[in-house]
Amino acid sequence: MMFGNEPLGSSIMLAPMAEVSDAPFRKIAKECGATLTFTQMVSAKGVVENSFESLKLLAFSRDEKPVGVQILGNDPKYIYPAVKEIARFKPDIIDLNCGCPKQQVTRYKLGAGLLNDPVLLGKLVKTMVSASGGIPVSVKIRLGWDDRNINVIDNVKAAEDNGASLVFIHARTRADKYDVAARWDILADIKAKTNLPIVGNGSVFTPADVVEMKKNTGIDSVLVARGALGNPFIFSRSRSLFETGNDPGEPDKETLRSTIFKHIKLLEIEYTGAVLLNHVKKNIIWYLRYYSGINVLLEKVLSANNLEDLKLITDKHLDNIDLTQTDTPDVAEVEQRFRNKVLFWLAPKEVNKSCYQ
Ligand SMILES: Cc1cc2nc3c(=O)[nH]c(=O)nc-3n(C[C@H](O)[C@H](O)[C@H](O)COP(=O)(O)O)c2cc1C
Repeated sequence: MMFGNEPLGSSIMLAPMAEVSDAPFRKIAKECGATLTFTQMVSAKGVVENSFESLKLLAFSRDEKPVGVQILGNDPKYIYPAVKEIARFKPDIIDLNCGCPKQQVTRYKLGAGLLNDPVLLGKLVKTMVSASGGIPVSVKIRLGWDDRNINVIDNVKAAEDNGASLVFIHARTRADKYDVAARWDILADIKAKTNLPIVGNGSVFTPADVVEMKKNTGIDSVLVARGALGNPFIFSRSRSLFETGNDPGEPDKETLRSTIFKHIKLLEIEYTGAVLLNHVKKNIIWYLRYYSGINVLLEKVLSANNLEDLKLITDKHLDNIDLTQTDTPDVAEVEQRFRNKVLFWLAPKEVNKSCYQ
């Protein structure tokens, strides 16, 4: 299986992430070496009903390819026409979300709510394959609902038997959400029991993690999620580590600065007003969370109320920080908070409606 000119076996992919894997981030990730990126999840019903919000989320430009689209749905009545419509834009893969853990989603048997019903999951895959006009179809699943219901093999088989080309496996259960370490050992088990290409996901935060997950489990490729936030360099570094055994290391200051400012420029094309400011703020914080001084930066960024100030704050901070200072208490604390919640600076009640925050 190929993505653009690249075989699956040497691919490193950017995961679908609501509110994150927008066009600016996809472009940056691609430039840094991601083989495949995903647009943000869209509701199949929303696509069929021409909801502006849904159509906006799945839009991508041709130069972003290879790119995947992910849908949320459980009813062939919507899945079939939605996939037909999406196929017109020629994404490189169309994926079904079977992993969103939020109760507001699972209680309608959507997202991870599908995990307990491999028969329905298989039926949905079959529907997608019949509508996709030859574009590969995949599912992104978790290991199961909880520790007592690990049925990942049943779901992989259901996908395989119904024509899926690939399965993305987030190596946690629905009950784990994001908080516990992903169980890579189970990925090795699954790989041994299926012929379907498997892309592993979960707890991949460093280039060494990418290579280790792949080597230790035998899976075909790796899907990076939180590890890429503010860190698109993970793609080029992992690629180099994988191909040559050498990790070129953290970016130097000028690479970091130019990547951040390029990302901001792309965000300015995509968004305006308060929405733009929020996207810029969160990305600046993610990029600089690895370096000492992050607590001071957080305060300044969060209290800024225009783009010019944000750019000045970032530039000055970059001038002043020492990129070799990465093991300071503020960095360790922020990294822990980030792993618990990517928008770690928000109080729980401020966290928006997204499936994943
Ligand atoms: C902010 C955020 C948004 C996400 N949105 C989606 C999504 O829309 N669809 C999906 O399948 N997974 C989504 N995920 C899950 C990730 O794709 C991935 O499976 C998960 O973060 C585990 O990988 P990690 O431990 O390496 O972060 C999201 C995760 C985060 C942090």
